Amino acid sequence: MDLQTNKPVYAESPGLCDTYGRCLNNLRISVTQRCNLNCFFCHREGENVFGQELTPKEIADIVKMACELGMTKVKITGGEPLLRGDIVEIVSRIVLHAEEVSLTTNGVLLEGKAEALRSAGLQRVNVSLHAMDPLTFKRVTGHEGLRQVERGIAAALENHLDPVKVNMVVLKGINDHEIHQMIDFTGHVGAILQLIEFQPVQNDNWNPWNRFHCDLSAIEGWLEEKAYKTQERVMHRRKKYYLKRNSGVACVEVVKPMHNSEFCRNCTRLRVTSDGKLKPCLLRNDNLVDAVTYVRGRKNLEGLEKAFRKVVTLREPYWKDVEAE
Ligand code: 5AD
Repeated sequence: MDLQTNKPVYAESPGLCDTYGRCLNNLRISVTQRCNLNCFFCHREGENVFGQELTPKEIADIVKMACELGMTKVKITGGEPLLRGDIVEIVSRIVLHAEEVSLTTNGVLLEGKAEALRSAGLQRVNVSLHAMDPLTFKRVTGHEGLRQVERGIAAALENHLDPVKVNMVVLKGINDHEIHQMIDFTGHVGAILQLIEFQPVQNDNWNPWNRFHCDLSAIEGWLEEKAYKTQERVMHRRKKYYLKRNSGVACVEVVKPMHNSEFCRNCTRLRVTSDGKLKPCLLRNDNLVDAVTYVRGRKNLEGLEKAFRKVVTLREPYWKDVEAE
């Protein structure tokens, strides 16, 4: 707020654009670090400290400011967001401000919550599912529950939380032989498959990178050849392939962030950690900006706006052009 004119500053300088010309439109807010699965490769959204979770009101205040500053899309993540007993309230508060609200879940609790989430105004879900084989599922997640996830996906589709996207992190020697089965499954049920490159886990004594990282170029080449239609999304310049399969039309997106300057150049995303810090990049924890202070207890919206403006100045592509490295 400009105290002289009493006008919000953002009216004069709409949008949060960084020094690399990337204007933020996409807020990814973690609502908990708790999870009911234990995937061995999980990057935990790049969070490595455990703070107090934000309340639905605090989340709404942060989202409202983000949207007033020009952001339009909000993704709710975790941990596992459906572990929050108040997730429906969180959704119903966020939808008052954002144009598009989606949620990433492991799907275990989705069947029982899909209807209420849809009624609260959630538009779509991403369901993380890394295996079609129950044994692989257990190996990856440390738990049973594949059938529950499948029922969760069905419930999401029935309740029009679509397009439903299935996120499969491809892990060498673990699930890379199940990609075709996953393409058939998603094509059959009418979901979009996202094949995600494994990204390093931070601050871990055991770094599974070398052992499990799988280069997605080969599968991308195959998709390129087989697709009858290809599209490119604006964000991250992600490629999307449409294939005709016996099971129906399959749509496959490939998310390849590692060493990809094009990915970073087109990143318009800002994260919020579960304890209320603005986080410019998944792979860094040295440039977080506190936001919770301004929404917990006595609200300070000016302070919150400043925090957003500050974090934008700290944004930097993690992977830059090779020449610039
Ligand atoms: N690399 C890539 N993707 C990951 N995810 C979790 N950990 C990693 C990792 N190390 C995925 C989850 C979920 C999405 C939010 O991020 O499986 O689908």
